[in-house]
Amino acid sequence: MQLMLVARAHGYDTNAMAGYAKEEIAEAFGLDKARYQPVMLISIGKAAKAGYPSYRLPVDTITTWA
Ligand SMILES: Cc1cc2nc3c(=O)[nH]c(=O)nc-3n(C[C@H](O)[C@H](O)[C@H](O)COP(=O)(O)O)c2cc1C
Repeated sequence: MQLMLVARAHGYDTNAMAGYAKEEIAEAFGLDKARYQPVMLISIGKAAKAGYPSYRLPVDTITTWA
C-alpha cells in the first residue's frame, strides 16, 4: 500500500494483482526462484482512462462483533 501511495503522490497509477502465474513470474522477470517468493504483483504507470468509484458493502452489514 505504501508503494502504491508513493507512486500516486508522484503522479502514477497502480493496480495490485494476486491472480497470476506464480510459478512463472520469476523467470519472466529474470529473478532467482530460490531467493524470491512471489507474493503480489503491482503494475505502475499512467492510467489510460480515468478511474471510477466502486461500491463497498458497509462494514456494519457484513461484520458482527461478539
Ligand atoms: C492484494 C490484491 C490483489 C488483487 N489481485 C487482483 C487480481 O489478481 N485480479 C484483478 O482483477 N484484481 C485484483 N485486485 C483488485 C484490483 O487491484 C483493483 O483493486 C480492483 O480491480 C478495483 O476495482 P473495484 O474497486 O471495482 O473492485 C487485487 C487487489 C488487491 C488489494
